[in-house]
Amino acid sequence: MEGFPVIDLSKLNGDERSSTMEMIKDACENWGFFELVNHGITPELMDTVERLTKEHYRKCMEQRFKEMVASKGLEAVQSEVSDLDWESTFFLRHLPESNISEIPDLEEDYRKAMKEFALEVEKLAEQLLDLLCENLGLEKGYFKKAFYGCKGSPTFGTKVSNYPPCPKPDLIKGLRAHTDAGGLILLFQDDKVSGLQLLKDGQWVDVPPMKHSLVINLGDQLEVLTHSLQEVITNGKYKSVMHRVLAQPDGNRMSIASFYNPGSDAVIYPAPALVEKEAEDIQLYPKFVFEDYMKLYAGLKFQAKEPRFEAMKAMESTVNLGPIATV
Ligand SMILES: [Fe+2]
Repeated sequence: MEGFPVIDLSKLNGDERSSTMEMIKDACENWGFFELVNHGITPELMDTVERLTKEHYRKCMEQRFKEMVASKGLEAVQSEVSDLDWESTFFLRHLPESNISEIPDLEEDYRKAMKEFALEVEKLAEQLLDLLCENLGLEKGYFKKAFYGCKGSPTFGTKVSNYPPCPKPDLIKGLRAHTDAGGLILLFQDDKVSGLQLLKDGQWVDVPPMKHSLVINLGDQLEVLTHSLQEVITNGKYKSVMHRVLAQPDGNRMSIASFYNPGSDAVIYPAPALVEKEAEDIQLYPKFVFEDYMKLYAGLKFQAKEPRFEAMKAMESTVNLGPIATV
């Protein structure tokens, strides 16, 4: 198997632009994942975010995690745990409205660094969406517009996680296998403690830790939006891919995953420009409001995505997707 795709984004500005675009296309079609270096977010800002995230975990999260482990008896389990993950998390929302000022226990410098980091990640996400449009032959801004919905904003947030050392890594996952519900996911992961794996051709493949890189993956919404009937056998042109985090016996894994998702009222369906006319009546993918998909996903995250798409199709036939009220 060829190696995990690592893409140097700075090469978009030089002679290697077309080969770099080709690498992004190949990664989207065949991996659903890639790792970016020289992506424009400064090493200094990433170092600050990492330092403050690790400090915050030690100060505010570690004790709480230990109490959770003790209360559920996770240190001494004898059989596989299938309803819990070995992770400590909190969630920051940036768009449509930031909740950073409401999160308790965050030092002021940490709030400031996370706000700055989120702005940079948002810019990068929009740049990447345009690169995907270019590779697909869609007009510039197509995905951004699709994600903005009537209210004019994507949903954008960051899940800050730590995966502490685990005494029973064969019996509990750091995070159970799933595909991501949303659009584009940009992950700043620990450069020393690994654990993230994706499913490729039936095999779990490690996503290599690499300093100052960002791991990008595609969520279910990009699979729906890029559906093309040329790809009728394999369904979506671009795929959201199953991934998981293994718990590790040593080391604490930091994971800062930012989700650039459609707005709650955005209507998601295959881009008409990618769907051949003669086959328009063959509908493999649904048309739905993103918020409805998220309600369904909340209960079915750790299951295959296909039944979710089927459920949205069934819902589509019972609701009217006319103009969406904006109030
Ligand atoms: Fe995920």
